[in-house]
Amino acid sequence: MEVVPLADATEVADRGADVVEALVRSRGQSAVLGLATGSTPLPTYRELIRRHEAGSGPSYDGVRCFTLDEYVGLAADHPESYRATIARELTDPLGIPADRVHGPDPAPDGLATAGERYEEALVAAGGVDVQILGIGADGHLAFNEPGSSLASLTRLKTLTEETRRDNARFFDSIDDVPRHVLTQGLGTILRARHLVLLATGAGKAAALAAAVEGPLSASCPASVLQLHPHVTVLADAAAAEKLARRDHYREVYDAKPPWQGL
Ligand code: F6R
Repeated sequence: MEVVPLADATEVADRGADVVEALVRSRGQSAVLGLATGSTPLPTYRELIRRHEAGSGPSYDGVRCFTLDEYVGLAADHPESYRATIARELTDPLGIPADRVHGPDPAPDGLATAGERYEEALVAAGGVDVQILGIGADGHLAFNEPGSSLASLTRLKTLTEETRRDNARFFDSIDDVPRHVLTQGLGTILRARHLVLLATGAGKAAALAAAVEGPLSASCPASVLQLHPHVTVLADAAAAEKLARRDHYREVYDAKPPWQGL
């Protein structure tokens, strides 16, 4: 795992956008992007859009995207569904058409098979090249809450009260936050070729330290990242605050040969 301690959320967004653009430039039309929702990736997505609109970004023609998770129980056209959110915040502005943006299908009559169908779609696409991730304050990854199997695949899950409270800011009240979600499992996430975890703000410091330096445990789902051969953690100063080896990570990053990239 490579931990990159950065000054602030702007630097995290810049490096995050660099990783996405490098992938799209090298893989072109066959690039498969894995996208997280939530607040943390938004500055990265805005930076990608800024570069695209300025004409300095790569072409997104042919690029396919897969979201991590989706609420269950929202109306199909609800603005806070993750399908609507990712279209609004990233893929529409980049010109990626809706038929190339995939997410778990929350239609009520197909929930029993939604996980399996999403796994098949991921395999059929050849897997995710770069997976953008955020981390929950309780260490959740996608919507795999503490206690989730480290080998889990896409399935229906129940959100914790803490996560529903955290996400209430996107809704009129906590009562409007769905209880159920479809989420890629931890085993699904591990199949992506490069995992990029973005962490910003003091509220993520304890969870990030547990994920990166704590024991591998279902009690901290994000600790599963320790099993993956290519993980990049982009953390701002506040999120990196509780990392015991922070200075070493900085030293490693500063001494990195330029050809290595992220
Ligand atoms: C969203 C997702 C979640 C978020 C996490 C952090 O697709 O997978 O795991 O990444 O809840 O959310 P923010 O970034 O809003 O703090």
